[in-house]
Amino acid sequence: MAKHPSTVPAKPTHDTLTDDVLAGLKKDPKELSPVWFYDELGSFLFDSICELPEYYITRTELQIMQTHAAEMAQHIGPEAAVIELGSGTSLKTRLLLDKLDHPLAYVPVDISREHLFAAAGALAKDYPNLHIVPVCADFTQPFELPQFVRTAQRRIVYFPGSTLGNFDRTHAHALLAQMRDLIGRNGAVLIGIDLYKDRRVLERAYDDAAGVTAEFNLNALRHVNRELGANFDLDAFEHLAVWVEDQSRIEMHLVSKRDQVVRLGGEKIRIASGEHLRTEYCHKYTLEGFSELAATAGLAVRRVWMDPDQLFSVQLLEPARLQ
Ligand code: AVI
Repeated sequence: MAKHPSTVPAKPTHDTLTDDVLAGLKKDPKELSPVWFYDELGSFLFDSICELPEYYITRTELQIMQTHAAEMAQHIGPEAAVIELGSGTSLKTRLLLDKLDHPLAYVPVDISREHLFAAAGALAKDYPNLHIVPVCADFTQPFELPQFVRTAQRRIVYFPGSTLGNFDRTHAHALLAQMRDLIGRNGAVLIGIDLYKDRRVLERAYDDAAGVTAEFNLNALRHVNRELGANFDLDAFEHLAVWVEDQSRIEMHLVSKRDQVVRLGGEKIRIASGEHLRTEYCHKYTLEGFSELAATAGLAVRRVWMDPDQLFSVQLLEPARLQ
């Protein structure tokens, strides 16, 4: 049964959000947080991206789960509590839950109460015997697990979708360390990690022919206009996806088509013609590179499952034993 979420994070105020956006726009190069992609339209566009022929990530991870979830479940063992960071599309979660031996609980963690209850409610119908314990929290910050979840044989953090790639190294390390704390000494992390590959494949995946990703990127401006009363002209920006080799990441930018001035929070921001506003980065890892990063957070890679073309990986991490 879905219970009430245990933690409710305070909502940032209009002024704090405005200050954050202004701070990003005053950086060199200019930045706008990817959180602005996601309003109702943005979430719809993201779901559409996941179905695009160029965006291999979602279908490849699903294929890996379909092929290997039984083996993953064997490694996880009976009566596990599955803690999912971000409440997800639940399709991948279901593939895992279906193979687990008597899972004790499913704990979706999400900052959005709406997404949290949608995910919890949908699963509750199909898994009547599973304890579903939603936690409304920002998973990038420390949060309390419900006491009941602590009694599970094993706590498993499930973090699919390659979302770790959207964090820079410092924040990715911090998030992995937080997962290490959540699972305790004998738990595990099951994580989706997108792999380093030909830049042309990546640039197409983030700049599709139908222009859905471009619309998703521009939607960040539309969202800031509506929410914070800015006056970005969406026609004055162009979407760009560019591979940055020395950072091993694909970046999404909005490039200004002309000199312009944008008003926000009583300030005027000058944007020159050709100036870039970076909206997102998505790191792509080699197996060695990710294993080194995990080790900095006290986690060792125990198993890696990949698709035949080695585009994507799902990895099982466990606390590294101290020598
Ligand atoms: C959410 N995240 C894993 C996606 C990615 O691939 O980095 C977001 C995305 N941005 C553009 N397309 C998809």
